Amino acid sequence: MYGNAYIEPDAKPVATIDEDPEKLAEFEARIARGEKIEPDDWMPAEYRRQVLRMIEQHAHSEIIGALPEGTWITRAPTLRRKLALIAKVQDEVGHGHLLYSAAETLGKTREAMINDLINGKSKYSNIFNYPAKSWADIAVIGFLVDAGAIVNQLANAKGSYGPYCRALERICYEESFHLKQGYDAFVALAVGTPAQRAMLQDALNRWWFPPMMHFFGPPDTISVHTEKLMRWKVKMARNEEMRQDFIEQYVPKIWELGMTLPDPALKRNEDGTWEYTQPDWDEFFRVINGDGPCNKERLAVRRYAEENGRWVREAMMNTAMKRMVPYA
Ligand code: COA
Repeated sequence: MYGNAYIEPDAKPVATIDEDPEKLAEFEARIARGEKIEPDDWMPAEYRRQVLRMIEQHAHSEIIGALPEGTWITRAPTLRRKLALIAKVQDEVGHGHLLYSAAETLGKTREAMINDLINGKSKYSNIFNYPAKSWADIAVIGFLVDAGAIVNQLANAKGSYGPYCRALERICYEESFHLKQGYDAFVALAVGTPAQRAMLQDALNRWWFPPMMHFFGPPDTISVHTEKLMRWKVKMARNEEMRQDFIEQYVPKIWELGMTLPDPALKRNEDGTWEYTQPDWDEFFRVINGDGPCNKERLAVRRYAEENGRWVREAMMNTAMKRMVPYA
């Protein structure tokens, strides 16, 4: 019974809930065989809670992530850049919708998820709590934040929960386009005038350390959920593995353009691992718990949209209801 009931995220931990050991063993065997878990399948309450937490946080990140870039649509330097940015921001909101739909399959309504976001109960990615101060910030977000998202999502797309994996597969295709438009804008500034390079360097310094170094989550010594999530193939790589993968792929691309990174310790070891300065993890927790530079502003925008869009949602629901009962 517990296995298919939605449990509030702050409900007591699963260790205190008795799962049917046979069902649990069969469930874990299915995961070990690489089978996908579908919404109507039996699943432990803790699996449901964890997958829901992750998809919901991811969905919130997509719609909050549209905000820093969205503010630059009206200030994009050319028509071509503006069109690409409009398309990208629209895609990000679409990703949010796809992910909310996937999360709903676990029994929580979209309304409840949005309420938890605007009331500050749910988390979303740390990175979107920093300001986008110049056009170069848009190039850095499009290139590096989307690159980071691809590293994370390509891994998670091979996970065990069917609806999340299918959503991620589609999202990854679109993120690849985002990465290309971000890289194109990044290169244009890197090979541009001295003022453009300086603007890009300033944006790179601010986004790299610490937001981008925090983006993949804390190391194993601090991470809370990794062990369980990896056992159940919800998460397919450790936070540090993803961070290393990102650094390995993208630092050379930044350096080859003659740009620098604000970390004197950054270097590749002979065994292929990278050394870097540990970011301040207390700051990370402050930011994700509501005390970053832009948290209040981001949630205020979402709250405004929620309140001022209510009449539109209600009108659409009424129209839909009327269509469903044509003879009423
Ligand atoms: N931003 C905000 N919160 C983060 C975070 C980040 N970049 N990285 C970790 N956290 C939070 C976790 O949610 C957790 O807090 P909680 O217990 O209150 O929920 C805490 O930090 C400890 O981290 P950890 O135990 O390592 O969390 P995790 O196993 O969920 O791993 C992610 C973190 C981001 C790797 C994982 O949740 C994930 O892959 N999420 C899906 C992708 C996503 O959300 N992308 C958003 C950007 S597009």
